[in-house]
Amino acid sequence: ALPYDLAGRRVLVSAGGTREPLDPVRYLGNHSSGKQGYALARAAAQRGAHVTLVAGATSNPGEPAAVDVVHIDSAVELEREMQARAVDADVVIMAAAVADFRPISVAGSKIKKGADGPAPITLAENPDILAGLVRARNDGVIPAATLIVGFAAETGDENGGVLDHGRAKLRRKGCDLLIVNAVGDGKAFGTEDNTGWVLTADGRETALPFGSKTLMASRILDEVAAVVPNGGRA
Ligand code: PMT
Repeated sequence: ALPYDLAGRRVLVSAGGTREPLDPVRYLGNHSSGKQGYALARAAAQRGAHVTLVAGATSNPGEPAAVDVVHIDSAVELEREMQARAVDADVVIMAAAVADFRPISVAGSKIKKGADGPAPITLAENPDILAGLVRARNDGVIPAATLIVGFAAETGDENGGVLDHGRAKLRRKGCDLLIVNAVGDGKAFGTEDNTGWVLTADGRETALPFGSKTLMASRILDEVAAVVPNGGRA
């Protein structure tokens, strides 16, 4: 049986990929299927939490039972939803794959093939939503006790610096827990299985077993539940 250790807790999860519009029919996107974020939302609800899932583009992992689902497209929309909803969350988990850049402008009509060859695409930087949530907590907009969990998608392997990149990202983003995923070579994005590490701001590092995204979600929530029932983050 699953532990009922998130009873009454409000958990906000983001999942899937953002789509950054280029013109009315095209976008820049990524290969996130939403499976990992959906598994987290489902597992948190089964453990008794009130769960809101903010979902970008997915491969339709199936609406989870007893979860409020909000759909978004772009990083800017995701930021708006996360900032608005995090003010009354006990736990925020950023499993979405957010585009770091978006086309600087969205063409009003479909971009046509020109005689001069393809038009260049100029990009603008998207907000860092995770870092913005940590900032909002520092500013007192989000309660100090709210636990903020990030993911890191890093290419390479354990020896190729995935963990080092994860440690640096944890410090840079300022979140409490960071789940490090090795990606690339067909790993993590869109797959059924996943693996990685949980890094905590106070320096603990736990390897997660290789297995289904449901198993991964349950191990991540073990780490979350270990902190949250005692009044949130340490
Ligand atoms: O959806 P699946 O197919 O199941 O795959 C799951 C996954 C691999 C997408 C997921 O487990 C994962 O790792 N999600 C985070 C992907 C990502 O965007 O990683 P990143 O290293 O670029 O970003 C680090 C963290 O900052 C993430 O929590 C991300 O949500 C957040 N971020 C990133 C960029 C940005 N502009 N704003 C953000 O908040």
